[in-house]
Amino acid sequence: MSRILLLHATTEGQTALIAERVAHTLREKGHSVELLPADAAKPLDPSAYDGVMIGASIHYGNHPAFLRKLVIRHRDALAARPCAFFSVSLSAGGPRPKPAAAQRYIDKFIRKTGWQPQMAISFAGALKWSMYGPIKRRVMFVFISLGGGNTDASNDYEYTDWDAVKRFAEAYAERLKQT
Ligand SMILES: Cc1cc2nc3c(=O)[nH]c(=O)nc-3n(C[C@H](O)[C@H](O)[C@H](O)COP(=O)(O)O)c2cc1C
Repeated sequence: MSRILLLHATTEGQTALIAERVAHTLREKGHSVELLPADAAKPLDPSAYDGVMIGASIHYGNHPAFLRKLVIRHRDALAARPCAFFSVSLSAGGPRPKPAAAQRYIDKFIRKTGWQPQMAISFAGALKWSMYGPIKRRVMFVFISLGGGNTDASNDYEYTDWDAVKRFAEAYAERLKQT
């Protein structure tokens, strides 16, 4: 049984849902998982865990700046244990999918932080019109209509492939076994 720290950085909640699903799968595999928002007030000590996974969403082309700083601060501890990263965006899947852009978001995060997680993946996120204020609505309307996507804002849309999330968690559990 490994002790895993699972951090998530979310704005509209989809990354937190994905992190919960990952935690569930890892617990089913017999691991102990501490699931925390990456901006939790609690001081973090990644060196107290056997493995660390971090998930974060993309807004305006970037993962949150505070997360980059956090990863840089703990880079040595992260480098010393099996780590995984997942990025959540609409480029990864949604009304206007752009897988190459989704991969670039991951590459940029790795380049800016100098962190080399052993596993990294992009998951499609969600379009949560009901949570957007007027500015975000406008931004998302333009973003989606430019790609010819459905701009019907009367419903929320979830694009996350939950089987892919489970497979990623299982693959990480396998990797932990090898350490
Ligand atoms: C204001 C705003 C800006 C966004 N910018 C991007 C973007 O630049 N690229 C992208 O692929 N997705 C973008 N998205 C989509 C989000 O990554 C997606 O909705 C994701 O599910 C959000 O995850 P969260 O709920 O965990 O914050 C944006 C969403 C919003 C609301």
